Amino acid sequence: MKISLIVAKAQNNVIGKDNSLVWKLSADLRHFKSTTTGHHLIMGRKTFESTEKPLPNRTSVVITRNKKYTVPDGHHVVTDLKEAIAICKKKQLEKIFISGGGEIYKMALPLVDEMIITEVNAQPDGDTYFPEINWSEWDIVSSVHHDADEKNEFSFDINTYIRK
Ligand SMILES: NC(=O)c1ccc[n+]([C@@H]2O[C@H](COP(=O)([O-])OP(=O)(O)OC[C@H]3O[C@@H](n4cnc5c(N)ncnc54)[C@H](OP(=O)(O)O)[C@@H]3O)[C@@H](O)[C@H]2O)c1
Repeated sequence: MKISLIVAKAQNNVIGKDNSLVWKLSADLRHFKSTTTGHHLIMGRKTFESTEKPLPNRTSVVITRNKKYTVPDGHHVVTDLKEAIAICKKKQLEKIFISGGGEIYKMALPLVDEMIITEVNAQPDGDTYFPEINWSEWDIVSSVHHDADEKNEFSFDINTYIRK
């Protein structure tokens, strides 16, 4: 099972503020949707709560220390990352996505085979950060540039990295 990480991060590694995103990038949301549709997403409880409902056509696996936490039918609650991955392995999934937030990216990084990083050309204020990456461990395998426009506040590059 391939473990992929997907994130949009700023040049200063900011990924969020007040449990929300810090930019309007509709092309990146489209990319996130088309990349992850049909797949399982492993996420922290705060990221799960940052959207009104679970993301449609995806299965959320939510990590929390709260053993009484509940999610709608068809989704899963787990109390650690190991258990999240075990559920996905048991289902014999080919690929899963680590989809944040900051705490979960940091915890999952050593297990990740691929990172799909939207590198946003901005340095916004924020309270949640993507961890520092040791780039010598990663090869870039694709890069797609998007200019800023009326629906995309900043320009960005969607870069895919695989572990060496
Ligand atoms: N730009 C992006 O691509 C992107 C993607 C995703 C999220 N975000 C942003 O990231 C922010 C949220 O990230 P965050 O770091 O604050 O929170 P998070 O990683 O989404 O969730 C943190 C929660 O996960 C649970 N958790 C963490 N470590 C655990 C462990 N070892 N065992 C069991 N449970 C554990 C805890 O839940 P309990 O408190 O319930 O125990 C903790 O409060 C938001 O601003 C969101 O918009 C951005």
